[in-house]
Amino acid sequence: MKNVITLLFVIVGFLSQAQHNIIPEPLSYLETNGFFSFSNSVNIRDQSKDNQVAKGLKVFENHLSKIGIKANHNEKDPSIIIRKNKSIPSEEGYTLDISENNIILEGKSFAGIYYGLQTLKQLLPSSNQKEPIQIKSCSIVDEPRFKWRGLMLDVSRHFFTVEEVKAYIDQMAAFKFNTFHWHLTDDNGWRVEIKALPKLTEIGAWRVERNGKFGASRPAPLAGEKATYGGFYTQEQIKDVVKYATARNITIIPEIDLPGHSMAALAAYPKLSTKKEPKFVSPGNKFAEWFGDGSFKMNIENTLNPSDEKVYDFIDKVYTEIAQLFPGKYIHMGGDECYKGYWEESEEVKAFMKMNKIKDAHELQSYFVKRVQKIINSKGKKMIGWDEIIEGGLAKGATVMSWQGMKGGIHAAKKGHEVVMSPTTFAYLDYMQGDATIENKIYASLSLEKTYEFEPIPEGVDEKLILGGQANIWTEEIPTLQFAFYMTYPRAMSISETLWSSKNKKNWDNFVTKAQAHFVRFDDQKINICKAVLDPIVEVYKEDDKLMCKLINNLPNAVIYFSTNNTYPVEFATKYTQPFEIPKGDFKLRTQTFQYGKAIGRQLIIDRTDLIKR
Ligand code: ACM
Repeated sequence: MKNVITLLFVIVGFLSQAQHNIIPEPLSYLETNGFFSFSNSVNIRDQSKDNQVAKGLKVFENHLSKIGIKANHNEKDPSIIIRKNKSIPSEEGYTLDISENNIILEGKSFAGIYYGLQTLKQLLPSSNQKEPIQIKSCSIVDEPRFKWRGLMLDVSRHFFTVEEVKAYIDQMAAFKFNTFHWHLTDDNGWRVEIKALPKLTEIGAWRVERNGKFGASRPAPLAGEKATYGGFYTQEQIKDVVKYATARNITIIPEIDLPGHSMAALAAYPKLSTKKEPKFVSPGNKFAEWFGDGSFKMNIENTLNPSDEKVYDFIDKVYTEIAQLFPGKYIHMGGDECYKGYWEESEEVKAFMKMNKIKDAHELQSYFVKRVQKIINSKGKKMIGWDEIIEGGLAKGATVMSWQGMKGGIHAAKKGHEVVMSPTTFAYLDYMQGDATIENKIYASLSLEKTYEFEPIPEGVDEKLILGGQANIWTEEIPTLQFAFYMTYPRAMSISETLWSSKNKKNWDNFVTKAQAHFVRFDDQKINICKAVLDPIVEVYKEDDKLMCKLINNLPNAVIYFSTNNTYPVEFATKYTQPFEIPKGDFKLRTQTFQYGKAIGRQLIIDRTDLIKR
């Protein structure tokens, strides 16, 4: 009897795991008897009387048409019924009941219905199929864990067109992100039209074109060289993107990064710096010395002068127009990586500090941040900034985005500030996600597995102050939309599950199995994503003077084969079972993952010399 009960538990446990591939995992998914079968048309009745729902439904119907199902809107015998239900507790929550006869989608508001449609879309195939389309009957109740579920795209380091930004937003919406943080300005380009300050885009949006490693091997502009790379969004284009995002339940947070990261603004208006020298928009030539502990020295001034009233007039003009363009309640003021060396050298700044009894550069930054906060508040908006804004003290009401790990967020929350967690350790999507022999080498590594460990609420803080989390994609080394997708996915799927799904629903094996199914959906859409999670992870370590090699793959049912004797293909070599000593001699380690008897992912080929350097 005991054995039968154990077996039942195993079966129930198995059934409660993924019988679907929905990402992020819903709050509850209960499979019921039967299937809903689609013919080549489906009758849909939208009873929500909501214009936005009607627009969201159009997008959904485009997908139906892509997979060979025509949507009809006859009053009689609807198969898909969509309606509002005020009793659903969460503003973004929904229920989806799929039975043999019909599909009923209810949401408290447009947002919930929109997310129910995203779930339904994930239950459908992503391309036209020969077999009839059926969905397993089920009952889904769903709502998000966090209200801030963000992705940030940097359009300064590389420019992305309106159509590209919209394509990026489309993918975000499919995984129930609701916040698009648009990093619009930086040293490498000013990307938003400000009518009162036309030089920001006439000059600040353009730089000389350079390839090569950002901040290292790219040559500086030559004397008289024409700046030809760049672009900016007109105010009409910004309004169009805002409307597009709103139709997908996405709020845009515009970031105008101050007082550092301002080389493009200073190229246009050099008098706003302390040295007032003419500048150029940085093409990513070597601009700083980095000292390995996060500290650095800027070779070129890229900070606004906090002692100059004209700087605050400038900021006021910029934020006046930004506040009119973006209906969301936050404006992001940046505030990160502000190099203070030029302030400390400036006689003008020193005199200002003396007069205002400001004791050091950190206090001066705090003075600047508080002035900016007043300006932003005066436009009816709330200020958010990177965690450096807490240096030297922060005024009440400011929200902190914690990027230097979680500690800035913890400190800010303990002081009563609202926080969005966006730590490099779990959420920096510009970092490499696979083996350094095949990925584009950049600052650091961040695997899909590691992103899945992200927990935005640290112990000991008031969880009400943690609004949610966000992943960021900085584009120093990302020149195209397809490569931005490669760096964003699948890690953004993992972040979406952390931010939407309840903590006890997270399960790596379940997630990564669903993610593999989504790889096919991305392939169908011709979207380039990174499948490094399929590859082996190669670790080298020392044990009693022996150099050892460990091969890891974290997919369920994966096996790894390898060779260290220059033979291939590896499936005829050795099956990996335990760490091995790296043999001497001139060879390449070849290794690949297999699942259910099939090679998956990429074969890694690593020279012994590279291996022992690890
Ligand atoms: C940052 O990564 N500098 C916010």
